[in-house]
Amino acid sequence: MAEEKKDISVLLTEKRVFKPTPEFVEQTNVKKWMNKHGIKDYDELLKKCEDIEWFWGEMSKELVEWYSPYDKVLDWNPPFAKWFTGAKYNIVHDALDKHIKTARKDKIAYIFEGEPGDIKKWTYGELYTEVNKLANALKSLGVKKGDRVGIYLPMLVELPIAMLACAKIGAVHSVVFSGFSATALRDRLIDCESKVVITCDHFYRRGGKVALKKQTDEAVEGAPTVKNVIVYKRIGDDVPWTEGRDHWWHEITKDQSAECETEKLDANDLLYILYTSGTTGKPKGILHAHGGYAVGTAQTLKWVFDLKEDDIWWCAADIGWVTGHSYIVYAPLILGTTSIIYEGAPAFPEPERWWSIIDKHKVSVLYTSPTAIRAHMRLGEEHPQKCGLDSLRILGSVGEPINPEAWIWYHKYIGREQCPIMDTWWQTETGHFCISPLPITSLKPGSATKPLPGIKAAVYNEQGEAVTNAGGNLVMLNPWPGMLRGLYKDEERYKQVYWSKFQNTYLAGDVTRMDEDGYFWIQGRADDVLNVAGHRIGNSEIESALVSHPKVAEAAVIGKPHELKGESIAAFVVLRQGVEPNEELRKEIREHVGTEIGKIARPDEIGFVNDVPKTRSGKIMRRVIRAKAIGEKVGDISTLANPEAVEEISRAK
Ligand code: WTA
Repeated sequence: MAEEKKDISVLLTEKRVFKPTPEFVEQTNVKKWMNKHGIKDYDELLKKCEDIEWFWGEMSKELVEWYSPYDKVLDWNPPFAKWFTGAKYNIVHDALDKHIKTARKDKIAYIFEGEPGDIKKWTYGELYTEVNKLANALKSLGVKKGDRVGIYLPMLVELPIAMLACAKIGAVHSVVFSGFSATALRDRLIDCESKVVITCDHFYRRGGKVALKKQTDEAVEGAPTVKNVIVYKRIGDDVPWTEGRDHWWHEITKDQSAECETEKLDANDLLYILYTSGTTGKPKGILHAHGGYAVGTAQTLKWVFDLKEDDIWWCAADIGWVTGHSYIVYAPLILGTTSIIYEGAPAFPEPERWWSIIDKHKVSVLYTSPTAIRAHMRLGEEHPQKCGLDSLRILGSVGEPINPEAWIWYHKYIGREQCPIMDTWWQTETGHFCISPLPITSLKPGSATKPLPGIKAAVYNEQGEAVTNAGGNLVMLNPWPGMLRGLYKDEERYKQVYWSKFQNTYLAGDVTRMDEDGYFWIQGRADDVLNVAGHRIGNSEIESALVSHPKVAEAAVIGKPHELKGESIAAFVVLRQGVEPNEELRKEIREHVGTEIGKIARPDEIGFVNDVPKTRSGKIMRRVIRAKAIGEKVGDISTLANPEAVEEISRAK
């Protein structure tokens, strides 16, 4: 181990650059395209694709089939972009319908592996039939174009089926991560006025069963727009049932036709709403539309991960987050790929579970998060070393900055020093990768390298000037096809959050440095949003959950650097008058946050204090609290209303 450490630090001090071999480069999708267009290298490729309308127009020809052609590639009316205007389209045509007319009909779309080890393979043809039946069932419940449908399902193939069934009839899906609580689900169902919810009875997680139907019932009780609930039977244990409202998936689809006409929509019609955390308590409903999103997701997957007909793709994210929406559901299906869907926890029941999945199903491209890599790193390299892993040819990382040590470990023990690592930067808002290497790019461990072809990004200082080798604001200078279309029912917030700091420029909210070679080093969120194990959680969301506990008067939440999770959650809590702090209460408050938001949001530490530092206008000074809590210099506190509260942080019990 000591020797290994030395090995890694030597690599880091050398600032080693990993260059792909010419043989590897030659057979990539991107290089083949470059050859066709007479483009000789990476730099020339980026230059050529600065004409974004030309580039994305070309890409659309290769990847999607419109029902009727578009008039314009881009209609840019800042901050609103429309892509492929005038085209009639539905993403389900490319994800399913077109494959049914070809040999892809019998190709495997998904290999499902349940946590107990059950395996089921789904062909494109089988997927198509099940989607049509469910789409007809939704219609029978009165769901129409534009209606919102909530989906609360774990990692089962029924989740993509439910999403595609909605999209097929022009309904807008809103998937809520199955790790979120009933309260979080309820808030989202209310906000988007869902008519129907699709869920399951239970599912397996770490050897136990999660009672999803019970949680759905709790949520639906307070969401009056929901008139029907469709329940997929994953396990078969008893569940609470409301006659008239609840329908078993297998019963409601049983007699439905196996054909359902795909609704011919406008390319800019809405496909889905996905909620993500922002700086204020209420999550933002990010809007994505059919046409541009289809082109952007499929193009980036095809080039970055170089997917070909015989690849087995495993994006080991949860479909409840954008990574799964774009790269387990839509993009791989458009490309006709075979993908893995795994129900369970990573190292369960044994540390090599993931690696045995790779060997068993001959996974050729693996895409995961730095948190998962660090967790496996801690378990030890002897586990992947027991497995062959020789089917792998490309690796990927997403969700948070990957520290160079984790990069090197991933490269060495999972990639056997043969697989390039694509560190992809993007967001729920961007819809698809924006800053990422291609398999032809020279890699620097820890850098997401450069903006992709057709994407223009920069690092701005506070005055809006581009800066090199200094921390600044990551911004996007041009619109891109998968760009969010706004926030659900909140145009003002959309303009204010993303477009008000710099004119006609998208503010990503990440602190970033660009080095002298034009490589981007993403450092983390600039705003009050935590990144815990690659998941975005707003500080204020957790504070609101804490304050909703009857014994809590006030709370401040900060992120602390954490070896495994990137960031851990530390909460400082002021109790109500007369309430005495004790261990039991600490546990109770922690679990309360779990119930309000979900387990991922439970604070790692809760400290009881008499007051938290605030500005004169009553804003909690998280910057000051964080500095104090992690032992950094606190800086100027003269503007605080209660400077004495700063010392409370170090006295927290
Ligand atoms: C962070 C996930 C560094 C970043 C796809 C961003 C990253 C937020 C990377 C979006 C990366 C994502 N390197 N940081 N490769 N990828 N992030 O919306 O802070 O859940 O703003 O989308 O994750 O998180 P979201």
